[in-house]
Amino acid sequence: MRDLGRSPEQKDPATLNQELLAWYDRNARTMPWRVSPADRAKGLRPDPYRVWLSEVMLQQTTVAAVTEHFQRFTLRWPRVQDLAAAEDAQVMGEWAGLGYYARARNLLKCARVVTGELEGEFPDSYDALLKLPGIGPYTAAAIASIAFDRAETVLDGNVERVMARLHDIHEPLPAVKPRLKEQAGILTPALRPGDYAQAVMDLGATICTPKNPACGICPWRTPCAARASGTAPALPKKTPKPPKPTRLGVAYLARSAGGDWLLERRPDKGLLGGMLGWPGSDWSAAPEPRPPFEAAWQDLGGEVRHTFTHFHLILQVKLAELPEGYNQAPGQELLSRHDFRPGDLPTVMRKAFDLWAGSEFNPAGD
Ligand code: ADE
Repeated sequence: MRDLGRSPEQKDPATLNQELLAWYDRNARTMPWRVSPADRAKGLRPDPYRVWLSEVMLQQTTVAAVTEHFQRFTLRWPRVQDLAAAEDAQVMGEWAGLGYYARARNLLKCARVVTGELEGEFPDSYDALLKLPGIGPYTAAAIASIAFDRAETVLDGNVERVMARLHDIHEPLPAVKPRLKEQAGILTPALRPGDYAQAVMDLGATICTPKNPACGICPWRTPCAARASGTAPALPKKTPKPPKPTRLGVAYLARSAGGDWLLERRPDKGLLGGMLGWPGSDWSAAPEPRPPFEAAWQDLGGEVRHTFTHFHLILQVKLAELPEGYNQAPGQELLSRHDFRPGDLPTVMRKAFDLWAGSEFNPAGD
């Protein structure tokens, strides 16, 4: 028989919390920054540095993509003081591939404030966390609840989806956010808020998924209003975004006879700020070619496609030999084959390198 759900007054927050936490106790995902519910029950708390680092990495990026980067970061910089002392270029290099590079610059700023002004201790309240570079409402609430068991309301995409479905709310995002936050706030418990925050996120990531939610095994299948009315897969509704424009550009790969590559450190402000990349044209509807030097630039054939938040990009990739005695312009770096690590490049620049690496212009298979 179909489960018709409890009436709204039966959605008692204490019961909902119990149901979800009991599910989390059995199903919590293992993550390298997480303390399991069993260990938490013994009084263990996660290292705030690791919680902060993971939550900054997880903004707009999946757990799967973050895990490997997180492990490399924490091996290299085990404490916030180590990260604060790192060179900017090393941190930007380790961040490569995670995208949204302003996060990495703010990460460093934050590590330096915590080290230089707060004796290496992260503050334990939402308001104090919110004052730190790169920490917005989501991250402040996540750190306060997960690291310090403060009853703060964490609202990410997973939680929004779970709340919209639990209460069968059809108003579209983003306008409905405050209402979803209010509902999430009603459910945030004073007991085990850190586990609770992670439980709702895990529920959204593993059961209450955007497509094909596994309602049959959901701990909230009985109270869920969207399940009762059959609307769960269609929620949350979203106001359609305008389509992304396509921009064009050219990347210039210049390599010396000895195998050195010419790269440029991009300005701190703006897209891919602070990251290494190939010299190139502007990215626009009709880009001006802007080679770093005059040469018979050869087209590698093929193209690089990459999607940023606000536009799609199609890049042509050109190759020329770097003239001997080339005078580097400000911001340019010549990296020997030894120092050049393709993994330090942001994804779009890495794709241009991969196009070269797989092309007839790389007969040595470098
Ligand atoms: N997504 C972002 N932060 C998370 C966390 N702490 N647990 C599960 N999913 C998350």
